[in-house]
Amino acid sequence: MRDAGRVAANVRVQLAKAIAPGMTTQELDLIGRDLIEQAGARSAFIQYPGPRGVPPYPGYTCISVNEEVVHGIPGDRKIQLGDIVSIDVGVVYKGFIGDNAMTVCVGVTDPNVLALVRWAEQSLHNAIEQAVAGNRLTDISHAVESTVKPQGYGVVRDFVGHGVGRKMHEPPQIYNFGPPGRGPLLKEGMTLAIEPMINLGTHDVETLDDGWTVVTRDRLPSVHVEHTVAVMEGKAEILTLPDV
Ligand code: MF3
Ligand code: CO
Repeated sequence: MRDAGRVAANVRVQLAKAIAPGMTTQELDLIGRDLIEQAGARSAFIQYPGPRGVPPYPGYTCISVNEEVVHGIPGDRKIQLGDIVSIDVGVVYKGFIGDNAMTVCVGVTDPNVLALVRWAEQSLHNAIEQAVAGNRLTDISHAVESTVKPQGYGVVRDFVGHGVGRKMHEPPQIYNFGPPGRGPLLKEGMTLAIEPMINLGTHDVETLDDGWTVVTRDRLPSVHVEHTVAVMEGKAEILTLPDV
């Protein structure tokens, strides 16, 4: 899990550095494909089965721009100055999954949107601090909500973080809201993908006709950040940190 996490993180950061205005999300995804291949890994996303009636996921990565929350299908949308771009990278490496995401500001972004990005990052880090042995699962959930609620942001309720291991989506589901102190006890060695999705406006989201791309109902921007972490005694270990 450490090796898979490191590979996923390296690809995430290299992909973030490749973002430039004028580029399409499809071009970015193909760079992601190449980076994953060069690392000796496979995309955990491509051909991932969709819900009933939805074709499998067609991208190597997920690229979600502005009002797109998660699962943005790469295509001919051009990235523009001032956009925020969420890149989600999941890899299979030596039989294990590393899953991580970050949101990048392209050029000068509206200060209110920049603040949204920073608060979402803070919520992820506060959540990770709760991923220690002896805590309960929803201590993680509560940390996300309690970090961003005072700012008036919307916490997405329809999508969750998850256990991760040899498969991308393992139990438990990790909600990003709710009371603390509930759910299973956390034990050393559990590996979790914690992924807050935080909206500038309403928490309500909808899925576009492509069956995958999730957008905010009010079309205001949304931020998605994710780490794969290992529960440990005293302090969680973030597995998706890059080498540099
Ligand atoms: N990080 C995302 C998740 O945990 C990415 C999944 S995209 C998919 O759900 F296409 F593979 F589903
Ligand atoms: Co995930």
